[in-house]
Amino acid sequence: MKVSRREALGVIAGGVGATVVLGMRGTDAVAAIENRPPPVLTEKGTLKHQPLPYEPLDPVYVGNLTYEAFYHGHCMYSVVEGLVRALSEKVGGPYLTWPTATLDYGFAGVNGWGSICGTLNGAAYALNLISPNPGPLIDELYVWFEQTSLPNFVPEGPKFEIEGAVANSILCHVSILAWTKASGLGAFTPERKDRCGQLAASVAVKVTELLNAQAAGEFVPAYPISEETQECRGCHTQKASYLENSQSKMDCFACHEKHPL
Ligand code: HEC
Ligand code: HEC
Repeated sequence: MKVSRREALGVIAGGVGATVVLGMRGTDAVAAIENRPPPVLTEKGTLKHQPLPYEPLDPVYVGNLTYEAFYHGHCMYSVVEGLVRALSEKVGGPYLTWPTATLDYGFAGVNGWGSICGTLNGAAYALNLISPNPGPLIDELYVWFEQTSLPNFVPEGPKFEIEGAVANSILCHVSILAWTKASGLGAFTPERKDRCGQLAASVAVKVTELLNAQAAGEFVPAYPISEETQECRGCHTQKASYLENSQSKMDCFACHEKHPL
């Protein structure tokens, strides 16, 4: 029997679950698979995008699940767990065994490094897992995140009343800084932690809205990359020239100033 990569993953994930439940040795649990299946490829030899099935979800429900998950794990994990949990109830199948705990590494911009905000790292993972065409949704989400005062969703039973701040960046370090400035509170306070939980919930709400809109064929981008940033990229991404020196869609003005031409 030919086993697809996705079926194999399902078996592995089921095996891991069984290990936990029955206390079996991991090697016994995955003994059914003898060889690692080859990657599923397109005609061009690149990885084939194989999204999992999707059914429209209630964004508020997903936001609340995410906030709850945040207090077991962290930002990146919680966004994925909120969506996967909701889909496990509505769609079942691969979502019932999809492992999410491995994503806990993404906290505080990957293991505390303050690089990409974990909520956005998780959101892009979830979109790639679920959406048939994740690229435009990731771009929309990231610019929305840069420009919106966040968190903007209050989950059920919040631990604190949290005010929003505009980060102008997708980076954890910059996002936290924007919030500490706006709130006057420290980066290691319980309020800041809760702010990140509410931020994760806000991002999960937005991701659900984007998935719903795309599934209904109604996704219309509302957050294009700004004209100023497009202008910078117009020169600094010119292939095969001495200006081929940058690769980014981030808002350039978060770190650079306009220079005379
Ligand atoms: C019309 C083309 C053009 C545009 C538009 C442009 N640049 Fe440049 N940029 C240049 C050139 C040419 C240099 C000089 C390169 C060199 O000397 O190696 C430069 C240099 C730079 C440098 C190097 C440091 C410096 O100041 O010399 C940075 C950083 C930079 N640009 C960022 C930006 C950003 C951010 C934007 C958008 C606000 C932007 N550029 C828009 C052409 C452009
Ligand atoms: C998060 C901060 C950040 C953002 C956002 C950012 N940059 Fe940079 N950029 C840097 C750093 C740090 C360097 C390396 C240090 C330096 O050369 O100043 C750099 C270097 C560059 C250089 C090379 C400068 C040189 O000395 O030759 C160019 C060109 C550049 N960036 C363009 C851009 C453009 C265009 C954008 C927007 C699409 C952008 N950057 C967004 C931080 C940033």
